[in-house]
Amino acid sequence: MRRGGCLLACLVLLAGCAGEQSAFSAAGEEAISTLRLTWILTLGSVLVFLLVTGALVAALGKPGGMRRRLADPRMVTLGGIVFPMVVLAILLVYSFALLRAGPASAGAAPLNIAIEGKQWWWRVTYSDAPGGPVESANELRIPVGETVRLELTSADVIHSFWVPAYAGKVDMIPGRTNALTLKVTAPGIVRGQCTEYCGGAHALMAFTVIAMPPADYAAWLEREAAPAAQGLPGEGEFLRAGCGACHTVRGTPAEGTAGPDLTHVASRQTIGAGILATNPENFRAWLARHREIKPGNLMPEYDFLSPAEREAIATYLEALE
Ligand code: CUA
Repeated sequence: MRRGGCLLACLVLLAGCAGEQSAFSAAGEEAISTLRLTWILTLGSVLVFLLVTGALVAALGKPGGMRRRLADPRMVTLGGIVFPMVVLAILLVYSFALLRAGPASAGAAPLNIAIEGKQWWWRVTYSDAPGGPVESANELRIPVGETVRLELTSADVIHSFWVPAYAGKVDMIPGRTNALTLKVTAPGIVRGQCTEYCGGAHALMAFTVIAMPPADYAAWLEREAAPAAQGLPGEGEFLRAGCGACHTVRGTPAEGTAGPDLTHVASRQTIGAGILATNPENFRAWLARHREIKPGNLMPEYDFLSPAEREAIATYLEALE
């Protein structure tokens, strides 16, 4: 019974090793070389373990023969000092070489995107967009096959940016800019997560990364740079409720910067920073119960809104594509 429980627990744990947020489903140059290093280190240590265990078993056998040869001082020097030094030196040099390599050495100027960690969401600024920087939130889109340089900062406490399928994790530290270069090898949608405890809603600080063919990326960026349509139903309720004090909807008087930019919020995969799928029910749920859905988040409660006002605002957000 206990053995069955252990097996089940192992299967559940291993199931977490595959999928959209896994370093074992590597699809970026950095993640692929990290995965290769992981396998080399794992296989290497298993081989050394088998070798040492074999020697131990041989030494435990009858006196003479193998035991005498293993006890030879030259064997102790070779097997106990020279062998580990050579093996560890090779692995160290190999891992340093991997650290130095990376997509940045590819030559062409990288595409710069700035990402700021905030309690508990991500501000994403496409610095190199043709018409000037374009701000978005909680979703990162990148072109496949191009070197992308992410400039990582924090607005408040230390966060950590990690997209396991594409690259290793890098801390986001207030007052400092850390760079992470990525080169994704295939189109796809993966998930990233903040991996440094940053307060109450840390575990609910996730994001989506969408790798697109370069032509699709350019077309998307053009749409993302455009302002929102004006005069949409619900815009008046959105502005009157004061949402614009914290959120920007480009093209309207809403120009707040404390919360995520909502100009094209309905075109993103998730709302609440990777918490809920984007759909009409979830916009309604977020407006009515966001403190329950994401405890500790800094958006004020809007319990003074009438159901009709809330409905109008949800309708407005759904139209911001
Ligand atoms: Cu941000 Cu943990």
